[in-house]
Amino acid sequence: MKVSRFIGGSVSALGAAVSCWAVLAGPVSAGDSKLGPVVAPEFDAAKAALGKRLFFDKRLSGDAAIACATCHQPDKGFTDGLALSEAYPGSKGFRNTPTLINTALAENWFLDGRLGTNLNDVTRESITEDYSMNMDMRLMQERIKQDPVYVQMFKDAGYGEPSNGSVRKAIPEYLKTLISKNAPFDAGTMSDAAKRGQALFEGKAGCVACHSGPRLTDDMAYNIGVPENPDLWSDPMRAMTWTAFASFMGVENYMNVRRDVGAQIIRHPADGSDIGKFNTPTLRELKYTAPYMHNGMLATLQDVVAFYNAGGGDDPNKDPRIKPLNLSADEQADLVAFLEALSGDPLTGPDYVWEDEIPTNYPVIEDWREVAN
Ligand code: HEC
Ligand code: HEC
Repeated sequence: MKVSRFIGGSVSALGAAVSCWAVLAGPVSAGDSKLGPVVAPEFDAAKAALGKRLFFDKRLSGDAAIACATCHQPDKGFTDGLALSEAYPGSKGFRNTPTLINTALAENWFLDGRLGTNLNDVTRESITEDYSMNMDMRLMQERIKQDPVYVQMFKDAGYGEPSNGSVRKAIPEYLKTLISKNAPFDAGTMSDAAKRGQALFEGKAGCVACHSGPRLTDDMAYNIGVPENPDLWSDPMRAMTWTAFASFMGVENYMNVRRDVGAQIIRHPADGSDIGKFNTPTLRELKYTAPYMHNGMLATLQDVVAFYNAGGGDDPNKDPRIKPLNLSADEQADLVAFLEALSGDPLTGPDYVWEDEIPTNYPVIEDWREVAN
């Protein structure tokens, strides 16, 4: 389903129903919003293997301190278990680290949905942003060229000699391998409680209005009133990172804004109606990815369901569909059971993890500037 961020943003600002933007955005087949198994994309094994090594290699960060996998850890569903992420040494993050499982199937990326192009761009941003890995791509390329294992792997992958452009292709190829596997929901092995939960999810609780399709997201941003994480303002390292980001993104009055404005940075509507909208996250693999929401403010799935049951948070921009649900304690437990049934096998082990040590004691290349690989 290709629906532009802009149509999604403006129409939900009017509080229109899902069927309404379907009309504006052109025909959307019923299959698009149906819950169902994720379909694994094709991938090239040699390119994905190279992407895997790069993903686990700390030399992709400026001072070789962190890798993608430092924050996106396989045993935690490619998250880090923290409310707000760490960052390159000397700064701290301002958002919760999202799962990368099924991210290859998403329509747009980052928690505000600010990148709507492709994972090549997301990879570039993740490597170069000063609060992420703070790496100069040219330096990265020279580092990689000195490692004989990479020289061989780039060749085997059909990329020729190592280049930053190929890094940005190989990592997305690896991300294509991170697809949910054997969730009870897909395997048809859900408990009765989870089945009752699914009926509530698609019925009385109304969750499916936004959490639709195989990944259980419509890839649109809404405001559900998640409270601010006070750490973002009490920890100067986080506040600085946020302020620099907000300045760069053209957030009005950024020195005084005391909240994460979310998707407001995309269209900047003058009435501030996109403030506090965040992308609807996938609900797959939640078992591994606590704490929840863009700022990790909800610790457990019980907390999330209780939050929705109470009508979400308090925000002038809150989506009108988020309202008290009057679910009994049993119904809330059923909903949690359904959410849990959307998690499959952990994506750990050699198919997903680069397990060999990455040696850095390879011989120095004499006169390396003049040497062709
Ligand atoms: C310092 C921790 C950290 C590191 C290192 C890191 N990430 Fe992330 N990643 C995050 C956070 C936090 C977000 C959400 C950022 C936002 O919304 O602004 C994110 C978002 C993403 C997303 C978007 C997911 C989605 O559903 O929208 C992808 C894809 C991604 N990272 C891949 C990578 C890759 C590839 C690398 C290595 C090149 C990497 N990340 C390195 C913390 C990190
Ligand atoms: C109006 C659209 C909408 C509806 C309806 C909705 N959600 Fe959400 N959901 C969102 C958005 C947007 C977020 C992210 C909010 C944030 O991070 O600030 C979210 C976040 C979540 C998360 C956290 C996932 C994570 O990885 O952090 C869970 C779990 C969840 N919703 C479950 C549900 C359930 C269960 C229901 C029904 C009771 C429901 N949602 C109804 C839009 C919606």
